[in-house]
Amino acid sequence: MAQTICLIPGDGIGPAITEATKHVLAAAGADLEWVELPAGAAAAEKHGDVLPRQTIEAIEHHRIALKGPLTTPIGKGFGSVNVRLRKTFNLYVAVRPVRSMPGIQTRYDDVELVVMRENTEGLYSGLEHQIIPGVIETLRITTQAGCERIAKYAFKYAKERGRRKVTLFHKANIMKMADGLFIECARRMHEQFGAGIEYEELIIDNGCMQIVRDPSRFDVLLLENFNGDVVSDLCAGLVGGLGVVPGANIGDDCAIFEAVHGSAPDIAGQGIANPLALIMSAVMMLNHIGQTTPAEKIKQAYNAVLGDGKREELTRDIGGTAGTMEFAEALTRRM
Ligand code: NAI
Repeated sequence: MAQTICLIPGDGIGPAITEATKHVLAAAGADLEWVELPAGAAAAEKHGDVLPRQTIEAIEHHRIALKGPLTTPIGKGFGSVNVRLRKTFNLYVAVRPVRSMPGIQTRYDDVELVVMRENTEGLYSGLEHQIIPGVIETLRITTQAGCERIAKYAFKYAKERGRRKVTLFHKANIMKMADGLFIECARRMHEQFGAGIEYEELIIDNGCMQIVRDPSRFDVLLLENFNGDVVSDLCAGLVGGLGVVPGANIGDDCAIFEAVHGSAPDIAGQGIANPLALIMSAVMMLNHIGQTTPAEKIKQAYNAVLGDGKREELTRDIGGTAGTMEFAEALTRRM
């Protein structure tokens, strides 16, 4: 029976890359039924809410979604719908594999790491207020339960996937209590669930320097929400940019798959966005629901297209001249 997937096309480049992704999934023979749902700026205009009730109810019911990027206004306006979705469905870990891709020229050719970002608390709690004019207080929330569940997930993931090491990035020299708790929980989870997995802790500024010097020394990175957000984009820069890094937001009984990148307003509507990050996120989704054959087909197809390196088949961000749909067509030709 076809698996029902909630689809949020999103804002900016979202509709174009979700269309391309659906095309590739269909060509690979993925057995899916789509329920398209509104969210984001477009939903506010049409349904009077950036996250309409019908969208929440459908995800509650079907438990799996593929999502395009959603715009969050800067410095004013409504709060992030992405953050609301992650909190509503308790999607406590963002899993973001970052790897060197065939044919994409970068300074490194041996990146093979996974960013694990805590997804529900930390500096992303969204709790801010003005104490007096000119003085703003932002609260960072850190709970033992939140730290333990992401650390446990990281060690279990490392074991199941045959990975060798988990590195926790922190700033416990300054945030002694919050990051102190994160470290304490991770050490405990390592003892309980990390047998055979190496565990290390690095102060985040040093960690960033080390990633840029030699990313191959890293395997699984374990990070608080805000730090994970920043380091995800840093890592994307090691392998060719945001067009090639997928992601999954995972909870105990629900998962939403999305690329790491945003709605890219600077290129929206031009038909030139790279759909690969969302296509790779969809591959993660197919593996998650057990449709491994189409997942493998798509993986082989994009590796072949990237490896061939024909400019007319690659999007501009990775050195080509193709549009969003032309890239998707190149993939389907390889299947
Ligand atoms: P962004 O990720 O949208 O764009 C950063 C840069 O990368 C831009 O130059 C853009 O053109 C490029 N880029 C991103 N995705 C690309 C793709 N698929 N193909 C080719 N080039 C691509 O980040 P930015 O500009 O900081 O944020 C724009 C909006 O997106 C904001 O409203 C932000 O809140 C939102 N956002 C949403 C996310 C989500 O829905 N999960 C994640 C990150 C940002």
